[in-house]
Amino acid sequence: MNYSRIQGTGGFLPAQIVTNADLERRVDTTAQWIFERTGIAERHVAEPGETTCDLAEQAARRAIEAAGLSPSTIDLIIVATTTPDHIFPSVASQLQDRLGHYGCAAFDIQAVCTGFIYALGIADQFIHAGNARCALVVGAETFTRIINWEDRSTCVLFGDGAGAMIVTAADKPGILSSDLRADGRYKDLLWVPAGVSQGYEQTRRNEAFVAMRGNEVFKVAVNTLGRSVLQALESNGLDIADIDWLVPHQANERILAATAKKIGFPVERVISTVKTHANTSAASIPLAFDVAVRDGRIQRGQRVLLVGFGGGFTWGTVLLRY
Ligand code: ACO
Repeated sequence: MNYSRIQGTGGFLPAQIVTNADLERRVDTTAQWIFERTGIAERHVAEPGETTCDLAEQAARRAIEAAGLSPSTIDLIIVATTTPDHIFPSVASQLQDRLGHYGCAAFDIQAVCTGFIYALGIADQFIHAGNARCALVVGAETFTRIINWEDRSTCVLFGDGAGAMIVTAADKPGILSSDLRADGRYKDLLWVPAGVSQGYEQTRRNEAFVAMRGNEVFKVAVNTLGRSVLQALESNGLDIADIDWLVPHQANERILAATAKKIGFPVERVISTVKTHANTSAASIPLAFDVAVRDGRIQRGQRVLLVGFGGGFTWGTVLLRY
């Protein structure tokens, strides 16, 4: 049996920081409102010309270095993103070219904020099936490009960044389970009402923006994240006490706190980067994971549960022993 394990992680944030005070000057809001309702104090925003692939490359190089490998070992590249540089080729193909190692499968996954969970679950399946031995899995976004900076109900929530993992074949897990889900009935609670097949009209007018019914998203997010955690525990025969760290999608501090409270998960074992990263969509989970690895909270041998939720709606979990 081939199992997979996380051999190295990396993260990258663009240098430009936009604080809540900066947003006070752009829209009718206050720094205090944003912090109290979301837990966000600041977010990183890519400079003009700085692309999703630029962020993905930096995060990938850090993960490769942490894993102690060379790019030539990689035999699968998956990038989760909703904000690719181009309609095609994929960011994964561009990234393969940047790394200068050609021939392996490379493709993007689009599951919005759950994208990294989908990508990691798929990489695990490739490794289980014996079709890959060393996967580079990246979540990368320039999500602020699809934000209307005049809409105070959405522009305060998001940021840009990238997180990456090197996932390698192992004799024992590693990744203990993955569970990927979607319910398309919720598709218009959170979406960008523009796209290629619709004829680019909003894109041409530079109006391809995130539209969201925030209150409803909040409620479904809390219920779904909580239920997903409990299902992952049940299907693995584990209790909350068996999990060292929960790494949820970093949407909003109140969503994380309400989810933890609802299922009785101790908040001090929930990794949160919401305050300084905001919501980086597919990048949020691997970025938070990498922060907690590098600051020494997540340690080898510990059980970590990743849980994602996002547009679609999509959601899912990956349970792993680090
Ligand atoms: N500054 C000041 N006032 C604001 C702002 C703002 N930035 N945004 C909204 N308001 C106003 C509203 O207009 C409303 O005013 P009204 O009462 O006069 O109509 C009032 O604040 C309250 O609005 P609510 O939507 O009820 O505020 P709420 O406490 O629900 O917070 C928020 C809004 C932060 C968007 C919250 O609903 C939320 O976080 N939802 C989840 C959305 C999310 O995380 N989406 C990300 C993608 S999904 C995911 O990643 C899970």
